[in-house]
Amino acid sequence: MPTKKPQGTEDLIASGERTYQQLMNLAYEVFGTYGYEPIETPLFERIDLFVRGIGESTDVVGKEMFHVLASEPYRRLSAEGTQPDAKHHLALRPEGTASVVRAVIEHNLLPQGGTPVKLMYAGPMFRAERPQRGRLREFHQFGVECLGATAPSADAEVIIMLMRFFGRAGIPRDSIRLLINSMGDDACRPAYRESVSAYMRAHADELCDDCKRRIETNPLRAFDCKNPDCRAVMHSAPLISDALCDGCSEHYAAVKGYLDRAGITYEEDPRLVRGLDYYTNTVFEVQVIDGLGAQNAIGGGGRYDKLMESLGGKSTPGLGFAIGYERLVLALEAAGVPLGEGGGIQAYVAKVDSSCDAAAFQVMQALRDAGIRADCDHQGRSLKSQFKVAGKSGAAAVVVCGPDELAAGEVTVRAMDTHEEQRVAFGQVPQAVSALIGK
Ligand code: HAM
Repeated sequence: MPTKKPQGTEDLIASGERTYQQLMNLAYEVFGTYGYEPIETPLFERIDLFVRGIGESTDVVGKEMFHVLASEPYRRLSAEGTQPDAKHHLALRPEGTASVVRAVIEHNLLPQGGTPVKLMYAGPMFRAERPQRGRLREFHQFGVECLGATAPSADAEVIIMLMRFFGRAGIPRDSIRLLINSMGDDACRPAYRESVSAYMRAHADELCDDCKRRIETNPLRAFDCKNPDCRAVMHSAPLISDALCDGCSEHYAAVKGYLDRAGITYEEDPRLVRGLDYYTNTVFEVQVIDGLGAQNAIGGGGRYDKLMESLGGKSTPGLGFAIGYERLVLALEAAGVPLGEGGGIQAYVAKVDSSCDAAAFQVMQALRDAGIRADCDHQGRSLKSQFKVAGKSGAAAVVVCGPDELAAGEVTVRAMDTHEEQRVAFGQVPQAVSALIGK
C-alpha cells in the first residue's frame, strides 16, 4: 500500500525527530571544539564516485547501492538500450566520506601547503541491506573527515573525539568497547593480501561462495563474513599485525601511545578490516558489548591516505569516522538515557467565552514572544473541554481569560499540578507563567 513507508526506513516524529536534532547538535558542538566546520553534500552522486572511492568488490557498492534512474537522458538511453554514461548514472549515497572528499577536490578546499581541512556532516545514508533491528536501508550518520594531516596525533585526536562524543551523549564507558587495528599501506598490504589469498585458496572448499570469489577480488573482506564456516577458517588466517612494514608499525605504535596517555582504553583486533576498501593504516570501531547482536557497531572509521588521489585529487592523507544514529539511540535507550525531552506545550490559554477571543490571542502571542510554548483552542470548545485538552497537553500552566478578569485588565493563571490560581495583570502574564514553569 502507498500508505506504508518503504521497508527499512523510519519516520522520525516529534520526540524522535527532536532526539535526532539534539544528538546532531551535540555532535556538532563536540566536533566544533576540535575545529570542524559543517558541510552538506547531495544525497545522490555519480555512481562512479562510490565505485572508485569505496571499492567495486565491497558489499556496500556491489550489493547495497540504490541506483537513481530519474534523469531524462538516463531514461532515453535506457530506452535505446544504451548504457548511460557515468555523468547520468547516479546513486543514493551509502556513506559520506567519498562525497566529502569529492567536495574538497571540487572546491579546492585544500590549497598547496594549506592547513588540514576539517569537515563534519550529518544526514541520511542509503544501503539496500536486509532490514533488521539496528540495520536500516535509510539510516543517519554523524561524521567527520580531516584531510591533510599525516601525523599519528591526528588519528588519536579523531578517536578521542569519537569517545568524548559517546561520553557526552550518555553512553556508559563500560557498555562499549573501542577496537583498533592497522591495515598497513602500499608497502606492506599487497604481500599480506597475497598471503591471505593463498591461505584462503588452501581452504577454498570450506568457504562460502562469496568468500570463494573474494579469494581473487578482495580476500580481506572474508574477515567480515558472518558465515560460521568462513569465520572458523578466517580465525586462523595470517594476521596483518605480523605483516606491517616498519613505517606502519611505528605509526600504529605512536597512535596507541597518544591514546594511552589520554587514558583511552582500547582493544587491538588484528581482524578488524572494516567494510570499505579505502582504509590504510589506522582503523577503529566502537561496539556495544551487549544487546545489539550483530549490529553492534555504533561508529567506526579510520585513515584513508590514498582516497583523494584515487578520486582524481592531489595525493593527500585523510581520516575520519561516522556514527550510526539509529544504533546510538538503541544504545542510549538501553542505558536508560532520557531522549527527545523539551517538547510539548508549556502553557494553555483558555477562553471563558467568545468575547475573550481577541484578548486570549494577544496573551498567546506575548507568551510565544517570551519563548514559552503556548497553544489555545481554535474550535470553539467549551471551557470544560479546553481544560481537558490542557490537561492532556501536559501544560504546566493554564491562563484563563474571562470577561470579568479582562474587564479588570487581568487574567487568571492556574498551576496545573497544585491547582493554585492567581490573578495577574494582562501585561505580566509571561513573567507569571515563566515563574510557574521554572523557566
Ligand atoms: P561504516 O562503518 O560503514 O563507515 O558506517 C558507520 C556507522 O554507520 C556504523 O558503525 C553503523 O553504526 C552505521 N551504519 C552503517 N550501516 C548501517 C545500516 N544499514 N543501518 C543502520 N546503521 C548503519 C562509514 O560509513 C565510513 N564512511 C566512516 C568513515 C568516515 N571512515 C572514514 N571517515
